[in-house]
Amino acid sequence: MMSLAQVLPQSATTTPEGHLSVGGCDLVDLATEFGTPLVVYDEGELRSAARRYREAFAAHAPDGEVLYASKAFYAQAVLRLLREEGLSVDVASGGELYAALRAGFPPEHIYMHGNAKDAGEIGELLDAGVGTVIVDSLDEIGLLDRMAAERGVRQRVLVRVTPGVKPSTHSYISTGQLDSKFGFSLEGGAALAAVEAVRAARALDLEGLHCHIGSQLFDLAGYRAAASLLADFGARHLDGDLRTLDMGGGLGIAYTRGDEPPSVEAWADAVMESVRTEWARVGLPMPRILVEPGRSIVGRAGLTLYRVGVVKDVPGVRRYAAVDGGMSDLLRPMLYGATYEALLANRADAEPAGALRLVGKHCESGDVLIQEAQLPDTRPGDLVCLPATGAYGVSMASNYNGVPRPAIVFVDSGRARLVTRRETYADLVARDL
Ligand SMILES: Cc1ncc(COP(=O)(O)O)c(C=O)c1O
Repeated sequence: MMSLAQVLPQSATTTPEGHLSVGGCDLVDLATEFGTPLVVYDEGELRSAARRYREAFAAHAPDGEVLYASKAFYAQAVLRLLREEGLSVDVASGGELYAALRAGFPPEHIYMHGNAKDAGEIGELLDAGVGTVIVDSLDEIGLLDRMAAERGVRQRVLVRVTPGVKPSTHSYISTGQLDSKFGFSLEGGAALAAVEAVRAARALDLEGLHCHIGSQLFDLAGYRAAASLLADFGARHLDGDLRTLDMGGGLGIAYTRGDEPPSVEAWADAVMESVRTEWARVGLPMPRILVEPGRSIVGRAGLTLYRVGVVKDVPGVRRYAAVDGGMSDLLRPMLYGATYEALLANRADAEPAGALRLVGKHCESGDVLIQEAQLPDTRPGDLVCLPATGAYGVSMASNYNGVPRPAIVFVDSGRARLVTRRETYADLVARDL
């Protein structure tokens, strides 16, 4: 188990019975009490990740803000906890905005993203008094301006730019390159056109720029490259209108044994040093810095427990073990070929017995959680734990094949509390007229 320590919450231990325990709670007991699949979050790990971000940035940028990218996981329990820890929040849709408001985030500390915000969502954000909108297209700038003017309000905006940096990560989660559906490219004049459109608008105030170069990044060089291009653009075109710079999120986490992501502190140093050096080079005053981490706040804190239902040998080919969830609660393996580790929560210290293919219960051959899972001799009834499923797991969940979405439990100091109940079959048909 210990070789997997970096993918589990720091509180993970093995009990004398050989059970995996997190936050002082035996995971075998949690599965019995709450059923499976079960998503378990360690509250201590969530709080410590939030504090490390706040402290790392407070040291560099006392007037800055750490925004939690709520798309990573937006249950009320996590939003309330991160609000308590003093984070602001970014939302990427009307639904995430609703969740953030409901969790008590002051509208001033809500930042609204989205590459295709519709009139309904723009009305919602204006009526809620959302502090800052990150604008993503000329169509949106026009609509936001018209709707803000109709309401007689002024709206602060950041212009989302794609600096033309292509970081090394999966193409679906790489967002800063020129050919992207997000933002305005610095190259070719789109970003300048957006800045001019905001300046010409009646009801919009240009606050600065936003960029997010990609996700699950281990190599920090992309931030320096992005800061350099942003600084040149700022010096040439923005002058006094670059009060705030949002450098996005993107810090990677360990999903598998060998993964060694930079620390939160190293990431904060790299982002801040990049901006400081590049801003000094072009002679601009330092802007207020925002960052938007998602995965690196909630990823490691969460894990998923599945019950093994079937073990099947395909002679001469491989062994399959099928669990009671799959692509409906954890889409990332199928969506981006993302890799995870697995261990048996009920026999955490048993030696691996070779590779098997860990699959879900859905009617799709591609419903594979782990291509080559290194597990002990696995039998029906065993409890499989997939660590590091806390980000982009339940927030991407579906009901494919009529599988109810899992329950979510928070654990802390030996106590477990249900924060999101399991969906029922009745929930599955509740919207059907
Ligand atoms: C605009 C924006 N900000 C922040 C994030 C969060 O990124 P991460 O979870 O990698 O920190 C994303 C992720 O897609 C994003 O698109």
